[in-house]
Amino acid sequence: MRTLSVDLPGREYKIYIDSGLLGCCADILAAHVSGKKAAVISDSNVAPLYAERLEKQLAEAGAKPFRIVVEAGENSKSLGVFEQVLSEIMEHDFSRSDCVVALGGGVVGDLAGFVASTLLRGVKLIQVPTTLLSQVDSSVGGKTAVNLAVGKNLVGTFYQPSAVLIDMDTLSTLPEREVACGMAEIIKYAAIRDAKMADELLSGNFDLADIIARCCAIKAAVVLNDERDTGERMLLNFGHTIGHAIENFYGYGTYSHGAAVAMGMCIMTEYAEKNGLTEPGTLDIIRRLNEKFGLPTVCEHRDQLITAASHDKKRTGDYISIVLVRRMGEGYYKKVHKSELEIIAKGE
Ligand code: NAD
Ligand code: GLY
Repeated sequence: MRTLSVDLPGREYKIYIDSGLLGCCADILAAHVSGKKAAVISDSNVAPLYAERLEKQLAEAGAKPFRIVVEAGENSKSLGVFEQVLSEIMEHDFSRSDCVVALGGGVVGDLAGFVASTLLRGVKLIQVPTTLLSQVDSSVGGKTAVNLAVGKNLVGTFYQPSAVLIDMDTLSTLPEREVACGMAEIIKYAAIRDAKMADELLSGNFDLADIIARCCAIKAAVVLNDERDTGERMLLNFGHTIGHAIENFYGYGTYSHGAAVAMGMCIMTEYAEKNGLTEPGTLDIIRRLNEKFGLPTVCEHRDQLITAASHDKKRTGDYISIVLVRRMGEGYYKKVHKSELEIIAKGE
């Protein structure tokens, strides 16, 4: 088993990574849940596959688990579902010493995290991520959120979990499109912090558990320096400004989030190479990585992405922070005037 520490002062926690962990995690869970009620929040795809296994371990750890299942999909990250989940939990006579367990992908993780951070002014949260994206990204770092009709992730908190349990075996049931989404985030980590990872991914000679652990370690290090997302944490948005614009322009679901981010990383790097902001050859590596993992590298209607991109949350007044890579493994961010987005989107 691989164990990583996230050393935020007073809120330290561990990330446990192992295959088969869901069937043998009682000892790890005991430290957090013994004698407590545990609200297992999951979705309609994941619960039938994995909830029973986890609940058995929770019971063995001395907890009293009960299950709350939301519809699978982004629509469950809503204020309506949030309220419904809070009410259902309280029907179980929940107290502040009890615990929320998020079993699922980033949707469940973000929703359950928001629930845990607000219910009774904050109860313990354990993340059990089951998608590749949530294992390398969303379960670590403490961002929780629900969406509003006017935009994604507009309501939420920074709230760190007490533990993260990653069982790679859950990826065996994950649809291919979702695996590719996780790979886009992994390519992002390689681009901003780990050139060696890029080489390994391209060669095909890598161990997924090792890659997941390295991504979590990068995320933990970034979050330690900038939990509240005012500086270094923005690096985790490489490809995302244009990616969000693509999702927005084509309508959510047309392209997966990962596909949109993959195109976003290519568009940003094309711009950066043309303007001497990135070492030549970097775009070629990112393109080849995308192709290798079934992700797109080109996007149509680029000039129409500008309006959507200029609404990005990372905007301050007329300026927006964009993330670029100097060379593979070296991400940096730069404030540009929003008019620069037009040049980026058009590829001029
Ligand atoms: P998701 O949670 O919607 O999961 C994708 C699909 O896979 C769903 O249909 C789900 O039911 C299914 N699924 C999950 N695990 C499965 C498994 N093991 N086997 C079979 N099916 C499975 O999507 P996601 O990509 O995991 O997360 C996306 C969400 O994460 C977005 O809402 C995004 O905003 C959020 N996010 C948050 C952060 C953060 O730091 N908090 C970071 C990145 C993304
Ligand atoms: N995935 C972006 C962040 O956690 O900041």
